[in-house]
Amino acid sequence: MAIEIRPVTRAETKEYLRALPFVSGLPQEEPEPSAWYAGAAAWPPQIPATDEALEQYVEEIQSDWYRPQAAFVDGKVAGASGIVSVEITVPGLQRVPLGGVTSTGVLPTYRRRGLLRKIMTAMLDDCRERGEFLAGLSASEATIYGRYGFGPATFQQRWELRRTDAAFRDTFDDPGSLQLVEAPIAAGAWATLHEQVRAERVGEISTLPGKWEGLGAAGLPADGSGPAHHLLHLNASGEVDGAALFRLPWSADPAQAGALQVSAFETLNLGAYRALWGLLTDFDLTNRVVAAKRPVDEPLRWMLKNSRAIKVTRARDNLWLRLLDVQAALEARAYAGAGSLVLDLSDDLYGSNARKWRLDAGPDGATCTAVSGASADISLTVAELGSLYLGGVSPVVLLHAGRLAEHTAGAVSVLDALLRQDRAPHNAVGF
Ligand SMILES: CC(C)(COP(=O)(O)OP(=O)(O)OC[C@H]1O[C@@H](n2cnc3c(N)ncnc32)[C@H](O)[C@@H]1OP(=O)(O)O)[C@@H](O)C(=O)NCCC(=O)NCCS
Repeated sequence: MAIEIRPVTRAETKEYLRALPFVSGLPQEEPEPSAWYAGAAAWPPQIPATDEALEQYVEEIQSDWYRPQAAFVDGKVAGASGIVSVEITVPGLQRVPLGGVTSTGVLPTYRRRGLLRKIMTAMLDDCRERGEFLAGLSASEATIYGRYGFGPATFQQRWELRRTDAAFRDTFDDPGSLQLVEAPIAAGAWATLHEQVRAERVGEISTLPGKWEGLGAAGLPADGSGPAHHLLHLNASGEVDGAALFRLPWSADPAQAGALQVSAFETLNLGAYRALWGLLTDFDLTNRVVAAKRPVDEPLRWMLKNSRAIKVTRARDNLWLRLLDVQAALEARAYAGAGSLVLDLSDDLYGSNARKWRLDAGPDGATCTAVSGASADISLTVAELGSLYLGGVSPVVLLHAGRLAEHTAGAVSVLDALLRQDRAPHNAVGF
């Protein structure tokens, strides 16, 4: 079997697309928009992708922001993946390049023969050559990507709140206003809003071209989920400082009827946050709100009279991170205090990362220097460092899980204090 790993040409792109899992749907993703309500068979059928849909994908894949990579076996595409170049906000609120691994699939008849490993290595090498010192992905299964040095770094949850339990502790006099708008206006508002949100929140990612144009595509989805409604909040000066996208799906099942689904929600300040949730949680002719892809440190719980009223119904990892150049990555983020530690890092793919690093961190930045003689305070692998990097996972937890080793008493607490963030890292959008 002759194996070749390389990008695809335009003429090969449809063949490439047919090897990708998204052509047949990704049921591990948060089902959208309404599969939660319409029963077991609700996942919208997408198989097979029409020729027209494939044509559109070909344009996207051959555009300058997508770097397709394929495994050819005896001249035919047997496996495929791709990288998109985005930015991620890291602690200190610097926005740095991230190679986003996306749409990975190997044809069933070629699995478990090492094709993914070859594709992944080629893509990560390419990121390193371009100076992308971080790579990220969202994982279909949690058992696949740790072996390539990725660790789960951000997390998300879906929750439900019954309208009768949604009384707020305090009344709120909104100096701004709420507006329902059409999709084209919402698209412009989301684009500006998300740029502001990502400048202020660790973990947030820049959006890919075309992200907002598809908002609330015309017509009613065949699955009964209903049209997308676009709600904006404007501050007292008339500037958009919050937005929500929600639906009111129809269901024949009384247990599922009356739910208002929120599938996107971003705000810049407490006033917009309070005003938008105030409307969405007390919406006439609904009995509950279901919100998807929400941060794990949702403040709404603390605003309600009944702090148990929000029920988390789904929780999972979201972004997995891989440090490709450990020195550049550790020097790119800010730290919560001052401290110095020697980390003994293992990395199966990149020997240049696999060494002892002295991290000298302070509030104004950090230096990370390879050291040979010094004894290590902590040993860990690059996958654990990926989980720790954004501050969303504590090294104390990993210590208690046996995932890292402490050689100097108290070193893990020092690392925890350095990495800690005020808010949980979160991604409102993916790639
Ligand atoms: C996941 C997938 C891309 C792996 O491709 P592959 O070419 O079979 O993978 P490889 O043969 O290179 O395997 C690499 C390693 O991952 C392991 N592995 C592969 N698929 C796995 C899976 N689904 N679960 C757990 N481990 C898996 C292999 O055992 C191998 O382990 P090793 O390095 O210890 O020997 C392929 O199984 C697939 O297309 N699955 C369906 C779609 C999917 O889940 N895509 C991922 C979207 S995020």
